[in-house]
Amino acid sequence: MSKRYFVLLALGIVALGVHAGAAHAQSPGKPGHAAIASAHKLATAAGFETLAAGGNAFDAAVTVAAALSVVEPQSSGIGGGGLFLLHRAADARDVMVDARETAPAAVDAKKYLDAKGDLDQDKSWNGPLAAAIPGEVAGMVWISQHYGKLPLSTSLAPAIRIARDGFQPDSRFLRELASRADVIRRYPAGAALLLENGTAPKAGWTFKNPDLAHTLELVAANGDDGFYRGEFAHRLVDGVKAAGGGWSLQDLDGYRVKEREPLAFDYRGWHIVTASPPSSGGIALAEMLNILSAYDLAKYDSTHRIHFIVEAMRRAYRDRAEYLGDPDYVKMPIERLTGMKYADKLRASIQADKATPSSSLPGYLNPHESTHTTHFSIIDADGNMAGVTQTVNLPFGNGMVVAGTGFVLNNEMDDFALKAGAPNAFGLVGNDANAPKAGHRPLSSMTPSFVIGADRVGVIGTPGGSRIITMVLEGILSFIDGELPAQIVAKPRFHHQYLPDVISAEPHAFSADETRSLEKMGYVVNEGERTWGFMNVVSWDRKTGEMHAAADPRGTSGSGEVK
Ligand code: DON
Repeated sequence: MSKRYFVLLALGIVALGVHAGAAHAQSPGKPGHAAIASAHKLATAAGFETLAAGGNAFDAAVTVAAALSVVEPQSSGIGGGGLFLLHRAADARDVMVDARETAPAAVDAKKYLDAKGDLDQDKSWNGPLAAAIPGEVAGMVWISQHYGKLPLSTSLAPAIRIARDGFQPDSRFLRELASRADVIRRYPAGAALLLENGTAPKAGWTFKNPDLAHTLELVAANGDDGFYRGEFAHRLVDGVKAAGGGWSLQDLDGYRVKEREPLAFDYRGWHIVTASPPSSGGIALAEMLNILSAYDLAKYDSTHRIHFIVEAMRRAYRDRAEYLGDPDYVKMPIERLTGMKYADKLRASIQADKATPSSSLPGYLNPHESTHTTHFSIIDADGNMAGVTQTVNLPFGNGMVVAGTGFVLNNEMDDFALKAGAPNAFGLVGNDANAPKAGHRPLSSMTPSFVIGADRVGVIGTPGGSRIITMVLEGILSFIDGELPAQIVAKPRFHHQYLPDVISAEPHAFSADETRSLEKMGYVVNEGERTWGFMNVVSWDRKTGEMHAAADPRGTSGSGEVK
């Protein structure tokens, strides 16, 4: 949060207010209660357990991250990585802890191609070549050491307990496990952990994971060294190599999280703090909101509102493919792309009543929907905030478990442009800026964000591959319009990502009239597609003292609570 906004907020008078699931603020400038929303009720409860033990939002973020790795391994875990957006209330410091995976030194783009030279998705999605060097553990250790109040062993304790005692996976877990069973079956340790006699378990199954409990204990006792060095690192490297991959001990030993300045900008009196590269999310969000800032959206009929939003989406997604990659290696015109002059230029090409054909703009892209990856949001009683999106990429990552570790590896290598111009799992393409190179971080769409106004503050984010950014855009606009987390996460969504030149819409996103009017403007509307996203939002109103937390109803076990 910028100093300016912080001061503005700190001066806000906190009235005593009660709301369902909310409570009174106890001292001026502080919420006095905490809000957590995550994709699983056990993870949300684990976060509150850590707060009750004296932890802050950052300790709780470590706890929720670790607990999700146990109860939602299809979406994220210690075999993957994440982006942790943090706001420390005491000094108004905003930081993004980048725990994104990196390409191993032995990466070789040719290995992902088939005999004809086409991208072979069996290699970029499944098994050892798909896996980048995990960042999640380094992120948890870093945050605990630099921002937390509790020892790591305390923050990891709930996850260790759940892994050891077991829990009953929900229908989403079981469905996604069944969909990946063919790949998981290829690797004996994964099959032993996740399948029953080689097939996906049915409802009622209790999933116990003593190996993961043990791995987390190693991290709790030894920090980074418990994972990236020593015996455990040997085990991981040997396992990946035996399966045909190319990890080395040096890859693990050399992994470092990066503290990055978040991307921050203003939109019509609101301050947005969001993910910077290696995520494309913040830049695309800034482009879209800058374009939209010149329209008073509330004054337009709903069709024109959708029209302008879609045109902003179309233009921002075009730039994603062309310019963005790992900020440690790739020079990106970030200031230009996120500046108002550029937005003015893009806006000038938007016609009042007519869709702009994507073919009239340079570039290329393609959509794909999915709900793996996970996002959680936390505000603690002191006003610290954490917005975390973490992932193993596709469901159950690369489908491979190294014996004795208890977790699937990611398939984040697919987020690179493994072959220039060839679409990845989300239909996204790229070029040299996002080429797979030793030590590089693949470009992400993860967009954990803070929305900060004079009175109201929100933490927002979601999984959804390339659709993350448009979901966060729509969520921010709804928040600014005064909607509460429960309304925001439930709201039907629409998406446009430049190519194909189609608006995808969830069922009931548009009325029949709106669809007709959009079609008259020249849009192709693909309606009633299945739903997407798993958005988890918390908010705090400094004026009334109300806090809210809500999990996306599209998910099965999500939970948002205020305590
Ligand atoms: O970092 C990214 O953009 C992707 N690995 C996220 C994948 C994702 O959201 C999958 N879920 N729908």
